[in-house]
Amino acid sequence: MSNKEVILQADGMILGGEKQEDGTWQFIYEDEVVHTWTGALRILSRYPWQTLSPVAVHPEFRFLVWREIEKAGCTLDKWRALCGIDEVAALADWIANSVYTVVLTGAGMSTESGVPDFRSQRGLWTKYDPFTVSHIDTLEKDYGAFQEFYSYRMRELKKVKPNAGHRVLARWQKHDIVKYLATQNVENLHQRAGSVNVAHLHGGLEMIRCHICHSAASKEAFIEKELCMACGGQLRPDIVLFGEPLPQDIWHAAFQEIEKSDLLLIIGTSLQVAPVNQLPRAAGGRVALINLDETPFDSEFDLVIRGKAAEVLLETDKLLRQAE
Ligand code: OAD
Repeated sequence: MSNKEVILQADGMILGGEKQEDGTWQFIYEDEVVHTWTGALRILSRYPWQTLSPVAVHPEFRFLVWREIEKAGCTLDKWRALCGIDEVAALADWIANSVYTVVLTGAGMSTESGVPDFRSQRGLWTKYDPFTVSHIDTLEKDYGAFQEFYSYRMRELKKVKPNAGHRVLARWQKHDIVKYLATQNVENLHQRAGSVNVAHLHGGLEMIRCHICHSAASKEAFIEKELCMACGGQLRPDIVLFGEPLPQDIWHAAFQEIEKSDLLLIIGTSLQVAPVNQLPRAAGGRVALINLDETPFDSEFDLVIRGKAAEVLLETDKLLRQAE
C-alpha cells in the first residue's frame, strides 16, 4: 500500500499526505494555483498515478484525467470508477442494445462550443433577467430591450462552431443509432454538425418573422431594427418566449417519439423549464442523463452521468466503435 495520498481539488490545489513512521499522517498543502490543464498535470506528475489514492475527481475533469491515465498505460479501477467510466460503459451498452433511442438536449450541449447556458454560474440568466428580456410582455412593451438582447445573441452565435458532441450525435443519427433528436436550444449547432432532422421545441433564431402578421423577414432586417414590409409590425426571431406556448405540432411529435423510445438520452439541461421538463416522464423505457449539475429529476432516472456532454459522448462513441 502507498504511504502517500493525494486529493486533487476542484480549484487545482493539491493536498498531499505522507504517512509517518508512527503511523500518523502529515499533510502537505500546496496552494500553487494553476489556471491550465497543463499546469495541473505538471503538479500531478510529481506523483505517479499508481501511487495515488484518489478520493474524488471533479466532474469537469473526469475525462481529461482518464485520458492521462490511459496515456500512461494504466487502467486503474479506483480511477475508472471516480472518472465515471463504468457509467459510460453502461450507457454504451444500452445504446448498442436499444431499438429506439431518442435524444433531448439543452443549453449544456453547446457550452463546450463557447455558448453560455442559462442557469449555471456563468449562465445568461445571471446577467439578464429572463422576464425582462425574454418574455412576451417585453416584446410588446419594451421592444428595444428585447431587440437588443436577441441581436446580441445572434452576433455572439456567429462566432461559435459545433463541438465534438454535436458531431457524435449527427453521426449516430446518420447511422440510425439515434432515431429522433429534440432540442430546447434555439441555435443551429446540431444542424451545422450534420444533423438533418432536429425538433426545435423552443423554435430557432435563424427564422425571423413579423410578430403581427407572421410574414418572413431577414436576420439583417431584425438586427437593423426594421419593421415588417407587409404590415409595419415588429420583427422577432421565431422562438418561444416566456408566456408563449410551444409549437403544438413539434411538441406532440416529440411527446410521441419519447413515448415510443426504449432509451431516452437527455443531455445538458437543468430540467427547470416546463413543459419540456415533463417529457422524461413520458419515456417508454430507460432514461439516462448526462449533465454537469444535479437536476430535480435525477432520482427518477436509470443512469446519471456527471460530466461534460462532448467528452462523455466521445467516450461513449469510442466504446460503441470498439464493440463493433
Ligand atoms: P440551463 O442553463 O437551465 O441548464 C443547462 C444545464 O446544462 C445545467 O444544469 C448545467 O449543469 C449543464 N451543463 C452546462 N455545461 C455542460 C456541459 N458541457 N456538459 C453537460 N452539462 C452541462 O439550460 P436549459 O435547461 O437548456 O428557454 O434551459 C431551458 C430553457 O430555459 C432554455 O431553452 C431557455 C431558458 O430560459 C427560453 O429562453 C424560453
